[in-house]
Amino acid sequence: MDFNVPMDHGRIVDDTRIRQAVPTIKALRERQARVILLTHLGRPDGNVDESARTSPLAARLSELLEVPVGHAGDCIGPEVEAEVAALGDAEVLMLENVRFHRGETRNDPEFAAQLARLADVFVNDAFGTAHRAHASTVGVAAHLPAVAGLLLEREIVTLGRIMRDPPHPLVAIIGGSKISTKMGVLRSLLGRVDRLCIAGAMACTLFAARGMAMGHSLVEEDQLETARSFLAEAEGRNRAPFLPLDAVVAAEAKPGVEVQTVDIKAVPPESKVLDVGPMTVEQFLRACDGAAAVVWNGPLGVYEIPPFDQGTHALAQGLAGSDAQTIIGGGDLVAALQELGIVDRMSFVSTGGGATLEFLEGKTLPGIAALKDAGDVVHA
Ligand code: 3PG
Repeated sequence: MDFNVPMDHGRIVDDTRIRQAVPTIKALRERQARVILLTHLGRPDGNVDESARTSPLAARLSELLEVPVGHAGDCIGPEVEAEVAALGDAEVLMLENVRFHRGETRNDPEFAAQLARLADVFVNDAFGTAHRAHASTVGVAAHLPAVAGLLLEREIVTLGRIMRDPPHPLVAIIGGSKISTKMGVLRSLLGRVDRLCIAGAMACTLFAARGMAMGHSLVEEDQLETARSFLAEAEGRNRAPFLPLDAVVAAEAKPGVEVQTVDIKAVPPESKVLDVGPMTVEQFLRACDGAAAVVWNGPLGVYEIPPFDQGTHALAQGLAGSDAQTIIGGGDLVAALQELGIVDRMSFVSTGGGATLEFLEGKTLPGIAALKDAGDVVHA
């Protein structure tokens, strides 16, 4: 499982990843399987971190499943083996954070063998961690029959269709702060989409590459050449991206700061672009008119600090009413949609952050490639 959910002092802030995995667990229980759940939480780097224990996850899952979910104090060793041996049919046991052991992220073969000893079959439902070649995603698959869970399958089928056989017209909206982290996905989508919209601070780097003044905005100076070549490639393919027309600017991304909405060609020298303005949202929604599918990854502004969440919220509301299939690339956006209570009005919300990006870049994800039926599901 990827139950790596956002936590605040032991409280689960967003349980989307847990809820999305419930169908797999139910399907296994219906078949009387004894279900042993393994996940990481945070990045404890091989140390026991009290704030990263998985017991709150077990408690939440128990509420969702409406059955008791046991919790083991570790994920390997004789005591865990005894607890697993004592499980009855259809009972569920959650193990302690797999990243309390250094062997996890190193994909240590001995650690993987110890994990594998607990089970008869390995069901990988951790799409969010499928881009990591760790012991719990790749190592165990060498020891056990390894198959995809229902959530992993749904992610692969939905995102795989965008990569292999996309419905048209296909529109992609890519936001986020750094173009360096999104260049792979931009290039990959450029060859697949009919219309491409780009926003977030990364659009500032594209504008700067065209010689426009962006005030004190986040511009990745070392990416200007890459940005220029990307724009040239896009124009050459007749896919010049839709870029922001207006921006919400302020001196700092702070609550309560004085803001103004300006034309993108008139960013004041002392200001930072922190969100898109209403004209940009309208332009992006018009680009989505008549689309068969819209893929959206990354917020349009500094959405975690109001009022710079307005652009992201307005676009989300607009897409919630769209006839197009709406595919939301996980991570930051899921929190924004949760806040608005419109997650269910999107066709598909991916549980992956980095994994979704790498999948849409066309990379092979090691956690998927390690599965027995990988040949059927891994896109080219
Ligand atoms: C995620 O939240 O993207 C996954 O759970 C992977 O976590 P990681 O980046 O710590 O490997």
